[in-house]
Amino acid sequence: MTQGLQRGLQELMSEDLPQDYGENPTIVRETDKYVEEYVHGFVEKWDDLIDWDERTKTEGSFFIEELRRRGVKRVLDVATGTGFHSIQLIEAGFDVVSVDGSPNMLAKAFENGRKRGHVLRTRHADWRWLNRDVMGRFDAVICLGNSFTHLFSERDRRKALAEFYSALVHDGVLVLDQRNYDAILDNGFDSKHKFYYCGDQVSAEPEHTDEGLCRFCYKFPDGSAYHLNMFPLRKKYTRELLGDVGFQRIDTFGDFKESYKEEDPDFFVHVAEKRYDSLELGENSPEDLTK
Ligand SMILES: C[S@@+](CC[C@H](N)C(=O)[O-])C[C@H]1O[C@@H](n2cnc3c(N)ncnc32)[C@H](O)[C@@H]1O
Repeated sequence: MTQGLQRGLQELMSEDLPQDYGENPTIVRETDKYVEEYVHGFVEKWDDLIDWDERTKTEGSFFIEELRRRGVKRVLDVATGTGFHSIQLIEAGFDVVSVDGSPNMLAKAFENGRKRGHVLRTRHADWRWLNRDVMGRFDAVICLGNSFTHLFSERDRRKALAEFYSALVHDGVLVLDQRNYDAILDNGFDSKHKFYYCGDQVSAEPEHTDEGLCRFCYKFPDGSAYHLNMFPLRKKYTRELLGDVGFQRIDTFGDFKESYKEEDPDFFVHVAEKRYDSLELGENSPEDLTK
């Protein structure tokens, strides 16, 4: 992490700054921007946006089951945010380390953990330097809540995935989700997706979309609005990157289901396995990864 970024972090933690994208927000396409985007005020509202009860209903036990089925015990939550999945997994009996590059998010996650009687093991780290800052190997790395979209260059995406791969034991699994940007880019944003896993008081809608940027606006009942500039990951592209860094088998679910029409789901979840079997042929051959 650069000294400038570190200074920025300290300022962000101490003041309630507004988001600042300058005069032309749609030219802001930088990976490092995420730290500034999660200003204190936005983080405080995040749990209204991500209504925990609603989300528990929508996701069901999908992640817990996928992890249990693979015998996972140690989990590295690399996009902890306010702690929803870290806390859910701790309560389900997993051993969890909670990482985030935003100090504001980590502080909120810790507070949310305390309220539920847990002491989260938080680590402040950026994915691009994950293994420098977080020790140990994990059975699973989870990167959820459309977080990977914050990386704006292919170099950053490859580096982050290589770091996730390296943080896993030899037969570990990466679970990474993303919005269905193909549907947004190709068919436009459908307003039925406006309240997906949000509290019904909060709306989330793209204000600008092109192949290099999806700028979402989040509106809250008190009239406040916050934005996130995100890179619109196409599903095929994400799967190819996962294959390129060495994941051997990649299953992609649509809104937690195995079969779906490409345009229907709001979210895709990629479950990428590191386990290498020299005799295993077929399903996820390099050709399949392009599907
Ligand atoms: C959209 S939020 C999702 C949070 C949480 N997983 C959820 O589902 O509610 C994305 C999170 O990823 C973190 N993040 C984004 N880019 C990161 C990076 N390069 N390194 C570490 N954390 C990052 C952000 O700080 C933020 O907390």
